[in-house]
Order: sequence, then structure tokens, then C-alpha cells
Amino acid sequence: MIGKVISAESDRITARILLDDIENINMGDLLIIESRFKYLARVSSIFSKNIGEPNLPDKIAVLTDRIDDMESLFGTQFYYAAECGILGVLDSGIKPAKTIPKFLSKIRKAESKDLDFLLKEGKNYIKIGRLRNMDLPIKIDIESFITKHAGVFGKTGSGKSNTVKVIIKEMIKHNIPCLVFDIHGEYGYKRGLGGRENVIVVGLPGGECDVSLTVPLQMIKPGDLRVMTTLTEAQEDAVALIHKRYGGKWLEYISQTDTENIVSEFENKIQMTTVLALQRKIGRIVDYNFVGRDFNSLNYIRDKIRQDKVIIIDFGDYEHDDWAIKLITSVISRFLLNKYKKYKKEEHKTKETLLVLEEAHKLLNVDTAKKTVFSDIVREGRKFNLGLCIVDQMPHKIFEEVLAQLNTVIIMLLTNIKDREHLVLSSENDLSDFKKEMKRLDIGEAIITGISVPFPIPAKIDLFSLSRSKKENFDQFEFNELDI
Ligand SMILES: Nc1ncnc2c1ncn2[C@@H]1O[C@H](COP(=O)(O)OP(=O)(O)OP(=O)(O)O)[C@@H](O)[C@H]1O
Ligand SMILES: [Mg+2]
Repeated sequence: MIGKVISAESDRITARILLDDIENINMGDLLIIESRFKYLARVSSIFSKNIGEPNLPDKIAVLTDRIDDMESLFGTQFYYAAECGILGVLDSGIKPAKTIPKFLSKIRKAESKDLDFLLKEGKNYIKIGRLRNMDLPIKIDIESFITKHAGVFGKTGSGKSNTVKVIIKEMIKHNIPCLVFDIHGEYGYKRGLGGRENVIVVGLPGGECDVSLTVPLQMIKPGDLRVMTTLTEAQEDAVALIHKRYGGKWLEYISQTDTENIVSEFENKIQMTTVLALQRKIGRIVDYNFVGRDFNSLNYIRDKIRQDKVIIIDFGDYEHDDWAIKLITSVISRFLLNKYKKYKKEEHKTKETLLVLEEAHKLLNVDTAKKTVFSDIVREGRKFNLGLCIVDQMPHKIFEEVLAQLNTVIIMLLTNIKDREHLVLSSENDLSDFKKEMKRLDIGEAIITGISVPFPIPAKIDLFSLSRSKKENFDQFEFNELDI
């Protein structure tokens, strides 16, 4: 026993902690409260209290030089306590608690045998690590993790990409197709899954890959330009007019036609300065060496995903080019969403498919989130079995409506108070109990909350191992086909 219940209120209790045990209790520890029911609780804060005279703390302060043994002097006047959130009632599984434990119910640390329901095998789960300080696996429900969307947040170096690599490795075992936008080369050949069976690295120049990425010009829509850069009202009107007339050839038309000819063709509805500004912006897009007129990697990617492969898009030399990042992620994701919508309409079966977006704040910030296809995916992707997992080191930059749609949140070390506050305020999951713990996590430690886990899990994520199995041979011509 480490203490007893001294007060309780709907979903939380205060525990009096025995003096000698105070340093055996950690924030986030799981506790068992033995009352009529067996409650599972977790420590959210630890503190000392005194019931003595109002100036007792001052007296203690004054005497600190002369005394070591507080207990004999003030032993009955102060105590240690912990605030604990009740996670549920244990009964061959975990159920929501509808009652509170009795006063003075005994409290002890949870042991593996209390949570042995986590050991049950099942093909619908992935295992990504162990409960902190306990020899029990963490299981995540695949379907709800994917289709109800997820977020992995933590400061740089906290272990986000490692977590996602472990998740993807498990998805491969379960033949779940995934598409990872690997902005900083963490998932491909250098530090990741490249070379493994069922993994294909599709790369931009500069990164090692199995096949190279080509985005067809015809697939770039005016909406993509809006995500990449701000357009004036005049530029918006001009793009709309030109797109209406030229459809999929709008970019070619703007970039290849003389400025004067455009102005005269549209009977002065478009100003010369507007055309010049658009030509500058669009020139940058058509000059990208991954933007092609003949090749199209999109169908290749779709076909491989339909064969349950994992596709890693390695951004190579473009890892710091925000325009390229926004363009590629938008075009590919929209293409997939549209295909999945079509499959659903035609009643073709689709498997849950996971999209992973690193550096999510570049697209899902308050200014651009609504313009991106990712907002559509978090809103309606579930209907088509398409789910999003966003990964970011600065969650305060993510638009709150997007955060509210993430039903699984994996929180790693977050030292910035803005990040913690924004997450707690925006998430559908009640994260307020974890606020203090978020800034104390070690590398690789996490709090996993939400729909895909039975209760908020204090986790130690496995370390991803680089050892590889067999490599496939790839046929560059497999995707040399323009079919949009
Ligand atoms: N679960 C873990 N167990 C042990 N070590 C880990 C774990 N997770 C991460 N690490 C260590 O921390 C390093 C950084 O992890 P990782 O690259 O996943 O961080 P990150 O949060 O993705 O950082 P960044 O935001 O800079 O991309 C890893 O290279 C590894 O050495
Ligand atoms: Mg990373």
C-alpha cells in the first residue's frame, strides 16, 4: 500500500501518500484503488500540505538550518498527497467508472497482473512499445487509429519519427497500406524503412530511392497555388478565368504564352501586372524538375497502395522548399482521396489506408488548413477508409479545428507552454490531467490517449531497428503511363 483515498469527486481522487513512499510515486504512475470496485487511476500531480498554524511553512523555513528531522517536530501537521484521475474500473478489461471509491480505500501501485487484459492477442492491434515501468505491451487498435485520425506531437528529438516508424513497421506486418510524406529523409533509406519488403521509396532528386517522383502538370489545380502562396483578388480572378477556359492546361498556358497575348485574349479583364505576377509564381512551379508533362507517378503510387504496400515520399533536396512540400503533399493526397471516393461510389472494397504528414504545421496552420485537402481528409476521410496521422514539433501552430478531429493523440516531450496549452484546449480528448507530465517525458516516452487505446497509456515506445530484410527490384517503366 502506498496511501489511502482522502477525497473523491466524480472522476478524480486525492490520495494521502505514506511519508516513506513519496519518492516512489511518479507523475503518470498507474495506481489501483481497492474499494467495492477495483479502480484504475493515474497520478496527475503530487504535493505536500500542512494543516498546522497558517505560518507553519515560515517556521519550518526558519528552522531548516537547525533541524533535519521534520517528522518528529511537525509530523502530525503536514502530509504528502497526490491528485489522481480515475481512468476506469477494472473487471476483466476496463469500463468507465460511474462511482467513486470510499474514503480511506487502500491504494497501491498497479502491477502487470492488474492489466493483463492488455496481453490478449488480436489481429486488429499493433504493438508499439511497453507501458512505462511495466512489462506489458501497448496495443493500438488499427482501424480507429487510422480512420479516426491521429497526431504525434513532441519537441525536436523527442522521438516522434521513431514512434511513427515503429507504427509503420507494424502496419507492414498487418498488410496495411501507408503513404508517408517524409520531408526530412527519416523514413527512407538513410534512417528508415527503405529496402524492406513491401516498402517503396519514391524520391525527389537528392535522396536515395527506388523510383523517382514525377507530378504531372495537369494534376496541379488553382487550389494548390492558393495553398503555396497568397493570391491577390485580381490574381484569383485571373486564375479562375484562365482555368475555366484552359482546364488542365492552365499552367502551361500561363507559363508559355506572351504576357501581352494573355491580356488581349481576355479582353483586358486581366491586367498586365497581374499576369506578370502570376507568370513569376507559376514559372517556379513549372521549373521544378519533378513536375513533368509525360510521366505520372500518381497512378503508380495508387496501384502500389492498392497492393498494400508502404510508400515513402522522400523529399531529398527539397526538404526545406515549402512550395515543393505543399505542392507534392496536396496533389498526391487529393489524388488519393478522389480515387477512394470513386472506389466507394463504385462499391470497390478499400482497405484502411494511413497517410502520414510530417511538418504538418506547414499545411495545417490557421491560415491555410481550410484550403488544403487534409482538412477534407480529417472531415470525411473515414467514410472512404482514408486516415491521416499528423506529426509535428510545434502543435501550437496547428489549426484547432484540425486538432479537434484527431481521435488518437500521442504526446511526447513538449517543453513549450504554448504547445501544451494549445493541445489541451483544442483536443477532443481531455488532456488537462497530462499537462504537467508532458514537460517531463524522457526521449521515447509518450502519453497515448484517445479512441484507439483502452485508457491513457504512459508509454515507452520501442526503438526502431535499422536491420533490413530483402530488397525488391523495381521497374521504372511500371509507372511510365499518363492516365489522369
Ligand atoms: N523510443 C526510443 N527509445 C530510445 N531512443 C529513442 C526512442 N525514440 C527516439 N530515440 C532517440 O532519439 C533520437 C531522435 O528521435 P526522433 O528522430 O524520432 O525524434 P523526432 O521527434 O522525430 O525529432 P525531429 O523533430 O527533429 O524530427 C533517435 O535517433 C533515437 O536515438
Ligand atoms: Mg522527426
